[in-house]
Amino acid sequence: MKVGVIMGGVSSEREVSLMTGKEIVGRLNPNKYDVVPIDVTRREELIDRVRGIDFALLALHGAFGEDGTVQGVLETLGIPYSGSGVLSSSLCMDKNLTKRLLRAEGVITADWAYLDRARLADGSWENEVAGLAYPLFVKPNAGGSSIGVQRVDRPELLRGALTEAFRWDASVIVESLVNGQEITCPILDGELLPVLGIQANGAEWFDYEAKYSDGGAEERPITLPSDVEMRVRESALACYRVLQCRVYARVDMILQDGIPYVLEVNTLPGMTANSLLPRSAAAAGMSYGELLDRIIELSLV
Ligand code: DAL
Ligand code: MG
Repeated sequence: MKVGVIMGGVSSEREVSLMTGKEIVGRLNPNKYDVVPIDVTRREELIDRVRGIDFALLALHGAFGEDGTVQGVLETLGIPYSGSGVLSSSLCMDKNLTKRLLRAEGVITADWAYLDRARLADGSWENEVAGLAYPLFVKPNAGGSSIGVQRVDRPELLRGALTEAFRWDASVIVESLVNGQEITCPILDGELLPVLGIQANGAEWFDYEAKYSDGGAEERPITLPSDVEMRVRESALACYRVLQCRVYARVDMILQDGIPYVLEVNTLPGMTANSLLPRSAAAAGMSYGELLDRIIELSLV
């Protein structure tokens, strides 16, 4: 089977995607697959580059890749691909819509405001954020890997942070800080893999540096009290169900006083050497190569 590993892309997470893609290419079993690395540098070249492959293993992150657009192209071309479909990918890439849907379904997520550029220009953003408790996090609405994310401790710093976040995206969310243990819940085929606890080393929060530099963070399976574990499991699986994820996903949360607050759901979670999903799979006794075999197998069903 000719497996195209689609990587790179044009989003702010291009470098992360290349790390994910290279790792995947190195770990796919060459006795099972004819591996074709495909580094996409321009949107318009995708269609020509994927012709002739039997399966697209998506190593893309962010816009154009994780957001349903590439999935739509592959659907149109009739090429099977890994992971979630068009709708789920689009929804999960949109932090505001994700949070709205989750809250409507009773899944807990921090208070937030959603702003577009017009609200910054006409000053109405101040009303929107007025009820939010500080510290705040300002996030590009459809970003990833914490790129463009800033922590804001005082109201007078918010306007500057918004201006910076709008460099990355046409809309942003402003979210109240949840103070507690950051955890991540990888899901494979609707089953929770070992939950990892995250401790950033030397950084105030789990930023880009902490995520991708060696030793930037400790990420280990975490043992939780059984009532907390049950809430985490229910919440993670509810996200997967409500957002119609398929094959695999990773739900990021913060535990505050034993209550899991969902930050976001990643439909194409990182698969770099330092990434959380392969680490969690390893804790369940599944090698990186076996995890890829499962993803391909499940995506072809
Ligand atoms: N957005 C990055 C790749 C992740 O969630 O792992
Ligand atoms: Mg993400």
